Amino acid sequence: MNRKKVGLGFLGFFLVIQLIRIDKSTPAGNLSDDFIVSEATEENVAMLIKNACYDCHSHQTEYPWYAQVAPVSWWIKNHINEGRKHLNFSVWTTYNAKKQKHKLEECIEMMENNEMPLKSFTWTHPEAKLSDEQKALLVSYFKVKFNSL
Ligand code: HEC
Repeated sequence: MNRKKVGLGFLGFFLVIQLIRIDKSTPAGNLSDDFIVSEATEENVAMLIKNACYDCHSHQTEYPWYAQVAPVSWWIKNHINEGRKHLNFSVWTTYNAKKQKHKLEECIEMMENNEMPLKSFTWTHPEAKLSDEQKALLVSYFKVKFNSL
């Protein structure tokens, strides 16, 4: 096969995979079950959680334009599915107290180890790249909630 044919083959493949769309619909649920709503989180902390965690850990995902383009879209959707499965702030009040406490503990751990938000996310979302002060503020908020359970 010559180069031109290989190039056309790739282009064709790329175009065909665009037909496999990801599901961007918002799952049904009550806004009152949401973590920020139910905990009446103050605005400055709420903004940090929304910017840094909610795209993957809630139903309030804001999809970037490149989430339209396969195969990047599949990779993003996989993070969202996995993220929601492990921790979904949109269904917070449906977790029992034991689960909430455990999830808060994991949030603290993940943030203290700089494992969350995912690196690949902060590269493309500068607003999710928290400063040391912002991280400390969010971690201490999770700790207050953890201790109140
Ligand atoms: C780009 C998507 C993305 C963002 C943004 C993100 N996470 Fe995650 N998170 C994941 C994925 C995927 C997993 C599951 C796989 C893993 O542990 O890497 C996960 C796992 C977790 C877990 C582990 C839960 C468990 O059951 O083990 C916690 C806690 C967590 N994230 C907290 C956070 C917090 C807090 C933020 C914001 C500061 C955040 N994440 C931002 C994608 C994300």
